[in-house]
Amino acid sequence: MINVRNLQFSYPKSSKEAIKDLSFSIAKGEVFGFLGPSGAGKTTTQRLIIGLLRGYGGSIEIMGKERSKWDYNFYEKIGVAFDFPNLYKKLTARENLKLIGSYYRSAPKDIEGLLVRVGLEWERNKKVEDYSKGMKMRLNFIRAIMHDPDILFLMSLHLDWIQ
Ligand SMILES: Nc1ncnc2c1ncn2[C@@H]1O[C@H](COP(=O)(O)OP(=O)(O)OP(=O)(O)O)[C@@H](O)[C@H]1O
Ligand SMILES: [Mg+2]
Repeated sequence: MINVRNLQFSYPKSSKEAIKDLSFSIAKGEVFGFLGPSGAGKTTTQRLIIGLLRGYGGSIEIMGKERSKWDYNFYEKIGVAFDFPNLYKKLTARENLKLIGSYYRSAPKDIEGLLVRVGLEWERNKKVEDYSKGMKMRLNFIRAIMHDPDILFLMSLHLDWIQ
């Protein structure tokens, strides 16, 4: 599913390489986690695979195609769940899933069923701003899997970096 070979990357303003000669492969069905010291390049590697960063050296082959050759169809195939809820707080759970689902070509078939699966069926018409953290995280998880992705990324969100 993912085949990384001799990956290299430097952030534009940095003289130091953030990633230097990294290689690994992840097979279908495999659960793969990055462990390593702070600053080792775990987040940078995931940003490159997802496409939040471009301009790498070496190769990132995903589902048989080089990352740099994938177009927006890539986002139909992957799901990303951050460790911080990433939702529209003025909308209800149902409204969030309907809106986010409309971003995808393969729209989710059964929003109600997904809400039941995570135990949010009683809260589906409540605004997300009135949800607890755990309720938001459950909805956030559905957000990441609702379009039936082939690869699911669970990663930490750096708020300062996104802004
Ligand atoms: N936005 C950025 N701009 C410039 N350099 C960065 C940026 N983000 C990370 N780096 C540098 O890239 C290298 C790898 O950082 P990265 O965030 O990928 O590490 P990490 O393994 O995720 O660390 P942690 O466990 O602390 O989250 C570090 O040397 C870091 O200083
Ligand atoms: Mg990190």
